[in-house]
Amino acid sequence: MTNRKPQTTSLLNIREPDDWHLHLRDEVMLSFALDFTARQFARAIVMPNLVPPVTTVSVAEAYRKRILAALPEGRNFKPLMTAYLTDEISPDEIALGFENKVFTACKLYPAGATTNSAAGVTDVGRIRKVLERMQTIGMPLLVHGEVVSSKIDVFDREAVFLETVLEPMLNDFPELKVVLEHITTADSVQFVQDARASVAATITAHHLRIDRNAMFDGGLRPHAYCLPVAKRRFHRAALRKAAISGNPKFFLGTDSAPHQKHDKESSCGCAGIFSAPVALESYALTFDEEGALDRLEAFASEFGPLFYGLPLNEGTITLQRTDFAVPQTITHDNLSVVPFHAGETLRWKASERAAR
Ligand code: DOR
Ligand code: ZN
Repeated sequence: MTNRKPQTTSLLNIREPDDWHLHLRDEVMLSFALDFTARQFARAIVMPNLVPPVTTVSVAEAYRKRILAALPEGRNFKPLMTAYLTDEISPDEIALGFENKVFTACKLYPAGATTNSAAGVTDVGRIRKVLERMQTIGMPLLVHGEVVSSKIDVFDREAVFLETVLEPMLNDFPELKVVLEHITTADSVQFVQDARASVAATITAHHLRIDRNAMFDGGLRPHAYCLPVAKRRFHRAALRKAAISGNPKFFLGTDSAPHQKHDKESSCGCAGIFSAPVALESYALTFDEEGALDRLEAFASEFGPLFYGLPLNEGTITLQRTDFAVPQTITHDNLSVVPFHAGETLRWKASERAAR
């Protein structure tokens, strides 16, 4: 944490933000999760790790339609779709999707790295033609940056990925636009800072708040488990510094990833933190603690569109300094999901985006 003095502003108006990394799922979980995101965010990069994954233009179009159909009446929201890279995916398919404005980006999951990544890429060497085409057409590559090897300690997998996969890839594709998603280490902060301008990173709300001790706080805490897993306290400090730095390479991506309560509280609990119901509030709390509320707007609403070459949102959203009690669980139909900050009282509350 920081010693800086919190600011005393009680109302904060910012340009409508976007979420540059989001899991919306499908069916009943989709209508549940989407509502929370669309209250706060005008657009979101939608992750493609469904079962089966989103690997073709037609599947992405159908998924986009289901998302739009699941939006509550009067709520506007733009899902930005991504293609799930596999060893076999064709460069023509992803280029077609990009040219037709169906795909905004491609997501690289190393096979086995995380939830629903079994069909991911086994070796970056196998998608060279895809990366070449993406580089040519200016299509961003979004990276889950962890190696998958039982020989590498789970807490080191991100740092090893930088050295053994990302660095060589950036050298081989010097013009490729890359977002290193949900960074968790000081190493990644440094790497992205030092990299060329076309390399950026998203930072989640939860990695700005928890360190690895949160998973073992008085017992095993499955709701603090996500991937990449939270690291040591000094890594969190580096993430906080990057987020408030005003460096446009670092922008908001929640990685909000809902799982049913019973799937988290299990002998083999799923990875993922459902932060959508408290996302802006959680970021605001961190920026406030860091004495950097004046930098929140750029991080949440400007640096992402700037990187993706998209227009800034026109509307505004208001954050008010007031108590906000976060429920222990949120239920919907037969779903029961534990949100990030469950049972806590936060100091900020965001207004809902105006319907238009
Ligand atoms: O914690 C995570 N949950 N990390 C990921 O990479 C995937 C996500 C999910 O889909 O549940
Ligand atoms: Zn994710």
